[in-house]
Amino acid sequence: MMTIKNVPSALFFVLLLTRAIFGTCDNERTNSNCLSSERVALLTLKAGFVDPKNHLSSWEGHDCCSWRGVTCSNATGHVVKLDLGNTYGRIIQDEVWFADMSYALHGEIRSSMIFLQNLYYLDLSSNNFSRSKIPEFIGSLKELRYLSLAHSHFGGRIPPELHNLSNLQYLDLSWNNIYSKDVSWLADLSSLKLLDLSGVNLTDSINWEKLGTLSHLQALHLFYCGLNETSFSLSHVNFTELVTVDLSFNEFSNPVALNWIWNITCLKYLSFSANNFDGRLPNALRNMNSIEELYLGGNNLVDMKPNDLKNLTNLKFLDLSENKLIGDITEFIESLSPYRFQSLDLGENNLYGNLSGWIGRMTSLTTLSLSHNYLSGPIPLSIRTLTRLVELDLSDNNFHGEITENHLSRMSNLKKLHLSFNSVRLIVDAIWLPPFKLSYIDLSSCCLGPKFPEWLKWQTHVRFLYISNTSIADEVPVWFWHVFSKSRRLDLSKNDLIGPMPKSLEFMSITQLDLSENQFQGLIPKLPKNLYELDLSRNALSGFLPSNWKYLFLGSLNLKQNLLNDSIPKSICQLKHLVFLDLSHNFLVGNIPNCWRSNLNSTEKNYSRWWSSNESIVKPIALKSLILSHNNLSGEFPKHLKYFKSLIILNLHNNNFVGSVPLWIRKKLPSLRFLLLGSNRFNGTIPNQLFKLELLQLLDLSNNNLNGTLPRSSRSLQALTTIRDDIFESHDPFSIDVGMYPLTDAAPILIEVDTKGQRLDF
Ligand SMILES: *[C@@H]1O[C@H](CO)[C@@H](O)[C@H](O)[C@H]1NC(C)=O
Ligand SMILES: *[C@@H]1O[C@H](CO)[C@@H](O)[C@H](O)[C@H]1NC(C)=O
Ligand SMILES: *[C@@H]1O[C@H](CO)[C@@H](O)[C@H](O)[C@H]1NC(C)=O
Ligand SMILES: *[C@@H]1O[C@H](CO)[C@@H](O)[C@H](O)[C@H]1NC(C)=O
Ligand SMILES: *[C@@H]1O[C@H](CO)[C@@H](O)[C@H](O)[C@H]1NC(C)=O
Ligand SMILES: *[C@@H]1O[C@H](CO)[C@@H](O)[C@H](O)[C@H]1NC(C)=O
Ligand SMILES: *[C@@H]1O[C@H](CO)[C@@H](O)[C@H](O)[C@H]1NC(C)=O
Ligand SMILES: *[C@@H]1O[C@H](CO)[C@@H](O)[C@H](O)[C@H]1NC(C)=O
Ligand SMILES: *[C@@H]1O[C@H](CO)[C@@H](O)[C@H](O)[C@H]1NC(C)=O
Ligand SMILES: *[C@@H]1O[C@H](CO)[C@@H](O)[C@H](O)[C@H]1NC(C)=O
Ligand SMILES: *[C@@H]1O[C@H](CO)[C@@H](O)[C@H](O)[C@H]1NC(C)=O
Ligand SMILES: *[C@@H]1O[C@H](CO)[C@@H](O)[C@H](O)[C@H]1NC(C)=O
Repeated sequence: MMTIKNVPSALFFVLLLTRAIFGTCDNERTNSNCLSSERVALLTLKAGFVDPKNHLSSWEGHDCCSWRGVTCSNATGHVVKLDLGNTYGRIIQDEVWFADMSYALHGEIRSSMIFLQNLYYLDLSSNNFSRSKIPEFIGSLKELRYLSLAHSHFGGRIPPELHNLSNLQYLDLSWNNIYSKDVSWLADLSSLKLLDLSGVNLTDSINWEKLGTLSHLQALHLFYCGLNETSFSLSHVNFTELVTVDLSFNEFSNPVALNWIWNITCLKYLSFSANNFDGRLPNALRNMNSIEELYLGGNNLVDMKPNDLKNLTNLKFLDLSENKLIGDITEFIESLSPYRFQSLDLGENNLYGNLSGWIGRMTSLTTLSLSHNYLSGPIPLSIRTLTRLVELDLSDNNFHGEITENHLSRMSNLKKLHLSFNSVRLIVDAIWLPPFKLSYIDLSSCCLGPKFPEWLKWQTHVRFLYISNTSIADEVPVWFWHVFSKSRRLDLSKNDLIGPMPKSLEFMSITQLDLSENQFQGLIPKLPKNLYELDLSRNALSGFLPSNWKYLFLGSLNLKQNLLNDSIPKSICQLKHLVFLDLSHNFLVGNIPNCWRSNLNSTEKNYSRWWSSNESIVKPIALKSLILSHNNLSGEFPKHLKYFKSLIILNLHNNNFVGSVPLWIRKKLPSLRFLLLGSNRFNGTIPNQLFKLELLQLLDLSNNNLNGTLPRSSRSLQALTTIRDDIFESHDPFSIDVGMYPLTDAAPILIEVDTKGQRLDF
């Protein structure tokens, strides 16, 4: 989980540092008349840009110093600052900012820029220069102290000409498609305070040695650069001001080889998240007592000696998640100097033990994650003293016992609560008014029932709610659908929820709804317009899909195992984005509707889509999984499946289909891996073409009236005697192509075929 958590804090730091370096020392004026040579240079620059939102509309007239993004010096009148960074965007998830690229400048950066010789500040970030190269002439803007080209879709090599920028204090080239193989140019940037090359391809880069001489460096961000200790090795460093080092998402495996890092005594922020650190951390870490934030999640650390972190008395944020740490958590905690921790993430390790004896003392914590360990015992009442908690994650452990309102009643700051997959029972009064408003609730597999939890009524800000398998046997109260109407994802599956659903859920804005494995009866409601994943399988629903489908974005529809007993309505043709459809184990009758327009010409047919309608835009058919088994469907093998080029799973097992198995399957459905046609009334000869389907793993033709001989293929053929139906269970239908099914390149074809009652042996 370090991906999302650490980036914001790093970005935030960059912003603060930028402000510290550049926020206070502007002594320019904006009201002078600009120099005409610089005005012309700016206009030439503008002419090179494509400016879709007319960002630069103020760039006209004489006073270029008043143009948007341009700043001149009071003293000399020269243009000293050019700020063309695209600042339109939005905050997504806490403090991470994303630019709105529709406001981006495009086009070329013209060399007239070199006439702006007094520039000390140049920001072209978050634009779109379509993989063009970073212009070499930027290296001749010798006064530059600040240069940001981040997120601007530059491509190619970083021009070594940048080495001429000896005044540069801030250099941010992050997140472009650029690379550098020889970084010796960096060593000449002797004034550098902040360097951010995150996302730059520095695989195989050489000459890092001299980086260590940049004695003014305060922040070094080399996140996701393909670095390892072979290339990135510094034997002598003279970092006396370095406070931030982010080397997450690289290929470092031996922490000892990076001994220069562990020697830096002024470091406050260090991240090696998502590397391959093995074994133990070097002893030198013990001396880094300036450190406040340490992120080592996503490595292979096995062992922490009790004293490793004891001396780090300033440590407030510690992430050791997703490692292989083994031991008793109580000993581990006692070995830290833990009680001033604000954030502690030990999730996904092999820790055991319990929370008694220490949890109540961690009163500074705002974030605590201990998920995916082997922790046990009850959740002590003393946890109630953690009143600053914003996020509490104890999921996937062996905790048991009760959690009462007493545990939670002082956590007024809590936003995210994860207790799933423990044997805990949440017992609160029906009229309990929680002190918090949560945004994320995961209580899956805890016990909340049998009554529907009334306290959820006050949780009006929830985006994600997971209360699957929580022993609720009750009606869903009417308020529920309204209180949770703004949520993104609701999972109430595997309970005993009863009764009909509301007639319409159109007022909700959710995108994923899972009500499977309950006892819902009656008709399927009208659905929220933004829904893209709906699972109503294993209920007792009848009727069929309401007819307001055409506005939906539905990508996955699972109605398996209900009481649907009509024919499949043609309105299903309106689901144009469907990737996964499972209608199996119902009582459906009739043909599969042919949504295919027969009057399309052959060019169009190639690009036609799933259940094509009469709209003019024609897109490829996306459907990957079509599961209609165990119904009473009839007719011939559906001809229009020809156009479902992406099909991976086709299951028509146990219906009343007749006629021959078409020859075109191999050619038209080349992606098929699972083809189940058994227990129908197909007749004729088995097309040998089927055995040439390159990706096929499972073929079932049993219980039909098919005959033919099976080829001795070079691939191993293996008989399958029983086809387990649960092979077609789906938990995440969008992951079909990446592993829900046992897809492997080398898998044998599993075949069940019998001809006229005679099973063939392989
Ligand atoms: C430059 O001009 C700006 C705006 O007129 C003013 O705020 C600032 O104090 C001036 N700086 C100097 C050094 O004169
Ligand atoms: C950048 O521009 C290119 C065309 O020049 C376009 O294909 C691409 O989608 C744009 N990228 C973004 C993120 O807007
Ligand atoms: C940049 O430095 C090189 C020496 O490495 C020098 O030849 C060149 O003239 C410099 N360019 C500018 C524009 O100063
Ligand atoms: C980085 O560059 C190397 C060649 O130096 C190349 O093999 C590799 O695929 C590149 N990595 C990425 C993520 O582009
Ligand atoms: C580091 O990366 C280089 C280039 O990708 C590779 O040749 C070398 O074996 C790697 N070293 C380690 C220790 O992984
Ligand atoms: C280290 O940097 C300082 C300036 O911060 C400088 O005075 C000193 O000479 C440098 N030491 C070495 C060994 O380069
Ligand atoms: C780190 O410190 C140790 C002991 O203080 C010293 O032997 C070693 O040379 C230092 N390493 C670097 C890269 O400065
Ligand atoms: C902790 O720091 C003190 C003083 O700097 C030192 O004497 C002691 O050895 C350190 N402890 C460990 C475990 O490194
Ligand atoms: C918790 O673990 C400690 C040992 O770390 C043990 O002494 C204590 O009895 C345990 N408490 C409970 C309630 O299991
Ligand atoms: C088929 O339809 C496409 C798209 O509408 C059209 O461009 C093409 O000319 C048509 N071809 C024929 C042979 O009619
Ligand atoms: C297959 O069955 C159909 C009737 O459902 C029949 O008309 C046809 O002749 C049969 N074909 C073969 C090859 O037996
Ligand atoms: C399959 O059945 C058809 C008619 O039922 C017959 O003509 C054909 O010879 C059979 N083929 C084989 C290989 O048994």
